[in-house]
Amino acid sequence: MKRNAKITGTGSYLPETVLSNSDLEKMVDTSDEWIRQRTGIVERRIAEDDIATSDLSVHAARLAIKRAQVDPLDIQMILVATVTPDTFFPSTACYVQKGIGAKNASAMDISAACAGFLYGLDLANGLIVSGQYDTILVVGAEVFNNIVDWNDRNTCVLFGDGAGAAVVQATDEENGIIASYIGSDGDYADIDLLGIPAGGSRMPVTTDAIDNNLNKIKMNGREVFKLGVRLMPEAAERALKKANVSVDEIDLLIPHQANLRIIEAVGHRLGVPREKVYVNVDKYGNTSAATVIIALDEAIREGRAKPDDLILLVTFGAGLTWGSTLLRL
Ligand code: ACO
Repeated sequence: MKRNAKITGTGSYLPETVLSNSDLEKMVDTSDEWIRQRTGIVERRIAEDDIATSDLSVHAARLAIKRAQVDPLDIQMILVATVTPDTFFPSTACYVQKGIGAKNASAMDISAACAGFLYGLDLANGLIVSGQYDTILVVGAEVFNNIVDWNDRNTCVLFGDGAGAAVVQATDEENGIIASYIGSDGDYADIDLLGIPAGGSRMPVTTDAIDNNLNKIKMNGREVFKLGVRLMPEAAERALKKANVSVDEIDLLIPHQANLRIIEAVGHRLGVPREKVYVNVDKYGNTSAATVIIALDEAIREGRAKPDDLILLVTFGAGLTWGSTLLRL
């Protein structure tokens, strides 16, 4: 009998504080109209000053664990996808382990920017299908507000904070992860394209770096836009091809929530009708590694993703990295 990996529970958590476009109008030279037209974003959530990525993760993880009806002591591995870890080390995953009491797990972070959650899901799938693990917790979580340059209108309007989590378990059911694909291209590992110059071994955080905002996100939005529109459909098609599934069979497409225009272009290129494309970028902005798992969790809560539905998740991020997962709930 074939052994599959299945998401048996999901959870998400968004901080309560809302930052609206009109709030941003008071901070930088922008307008609600510009942000809505160019990005589709209306508001985003911001974590309180004393809240770290693991705090959001623990909230989301507890919900996922409860819904999967697993004992935290039965979780064997914790993977946290994030580019905003609590600290470089210990890993955010270790703080999450402590927060949920998963004493028997191994724990580590995944750095693959916005594609991180699907990297985690791909790893969990491989480790479960190969028989090495039965129960893995995968989290995508970010507190972006600390790495956003709040004086840079090109980037500060785009991002938000949030977390999502999934319990992935071995099953002999047909349902579960049907195909998964991840990729990257280090030729695009370019700080001017998308990244943070200072804070790592290449450029430590000095007062000079801080004065020049080099510890904050830099992005060439126009280039990233073009790459996203090309890479996400390509990634989605790889998973569909692997599974020999036609795009018409998809019940719900959940693309990375970076920008409504990118989401619409991806749906259009793949030939997925608008009503089958999940969108919540209007409410949360781009929460990086958390977007697709927050969206999947919300889609389940809203009844837009139901048992037996065929769901396609697709994402891309800095690196460049990308990935797609086809699953039957
Ligand atoms: N308010 C008002 N005007 C603005 C703002 C703003 N917030 N931001 C930029 N502008 C101005 C620019 O300065 C420019 O003015 P200029 O023509 O006088 O120079 C003008 O608006 C147009 O700028 P463009 O860059 O051409 O605008 P575009 O339509 O490309 O939209 C955006 C910009 C929204 C950033 C878009 O390019 C985008 O969404 N790119 C993808 C971003 C993304 O997905 N990033 C995350 C990747 S995932 C990860 O790993 C983190």
